[in-house]
Amino acid sequence: MNALIQAGQALLLDRITHRYAGHTTVDAVTLDIEGGELIALLGPSGCGKTTLVRIMAGLVRQTAGRVMVAGRPIDALPPNRRPVGIVFQSYALFPHMSVADNVAYGLAARGTARAAQRTGAARMLELVQLGHLADRLPRALSGGQQQRVALARALAVQPAILLLDEPFAALDKNLRLDMQIEIKRIQRLAGTTTILVTHDQEEALSMADRVAVLSAGRLEQFAPPTEVYDQPASLFVNSFVGQVNRLQGTLAEDGAVRLDAGGIISVRTAALPPGSRVTVCLRPEHLRFAADCIPATLELALPLGPTVVHEVRFGDGSTAKITEPREAGAAPRQPGTQVHVATAGPGMASAFAA
Ligand SMILES: Nc1ncnc2c1ncn2[C@@H]1O[C@H](COP(=O)(O)OP(=O)(O)OP(=O)(O)O)[C@@H](O)[C@H]1O
Ligand SMILES: [Mg+2]
Repeated sequence: MNALIQAGQALLLDRITHRYAGHTTVDAVTLDIEGGELIALLGPSGCGKTTLVRIMAGLVRQTAGRVMVAGRPIDALPPNRRPVGIVFQSYALFPHMSVADNVAYGLAARGTARAAQRTGAARMLELVQLGHLADRLPRALSGGQQQRVALARALAVQPAILLLDEPFAALDKNLRLDMQIEIKRIQRLAGTTTILVTHDQEEALSMADRVAVLSAGRLEQFAPPTEVYDQPASLFVNSFVGQVNRLQGTLAEDGAVRLDAGGIISVRTAALPPGSRVTVCLRPEHLRFAADCIPATLELALPLGPTVVHEVRFGDGSTAKITEPREAGAAPRQPGTQVHVATAGPGMASAFAA
């Protein structure tokens, strides 16, 4: 495998900024990526993910900042000289070329001899388990097969960096899972440094070594998946990744928040002066029913297989969802019941400036 694909190299995006017609699309993004890491770029539509990928590939020239591979700037290199393979958001196979010629395309563009193109393409097609379809045209393949051809094409040039822009978007759920496993397998084997663009938080959290969360061109957090989930750096991250309840309140002296909904709870992050108005974020699984704390009325109980999701309404009219494990045979709580809600443990609530 190592003979097939070059082991991954470190990638540094050094304060990359990009403006289209005066509008800042990427805003001073710095990402220091180790060789062999799989990084997910996660963020909503239009936040600048594709722009960043195109900058790395050399298809867009950034307004400011540098791209470095293995400690060397690559900004002066044209796309076909960069140690980069890319799978585009729409995987864009050449319709008039056979599968094998599609895969060999990057090698041809780099001036590789014809025989070496053919053997290189054949090995890559074996890698994605499509060797038997080498002579077909793309239109005679399923979406998932086309996606694997696009992946083989990107890998054929033995890139040090693999860029995948929403490579699973067109696939149904099962195929998606197959492809996710495939990419993880190839990436683990070869140690290829991989950037995976996605707006699917589950995909980012399950596949990546570290997740870069982007909002409106800015990097909100760059951390391992569990840290992004458990210790979100901003209100945006807390809301975009995972489910969250937002409750309003006022910060007290001792790192606790007096909620408008009633009750006082301790919070994790709040570099704010006492008396500040804050938004408290609590995940549904971080709330539980308790003997005291915040009084509420149970509005709904939805048994969802292994868990039950409850919706409660507080005295100030605000609502929250509470998830708890479902015990076999237990009757769901009745709507209309008066309950009390507490956090399931210390350090589970985050507070951000309201
Ligand atoms: N060639 C261009 N000229 C002008 N504006 C552009 C151009 N390409 C992208 N943009 C704008 O830059 C912003 C970021 O676009 P980009 O394609 O990077 O977003 P994205 O995060 O990949 O979104 P999606 O998830 O929808 O693919 C958007 O507001 C988009 O309209
Ligand atoms: Mg995009």
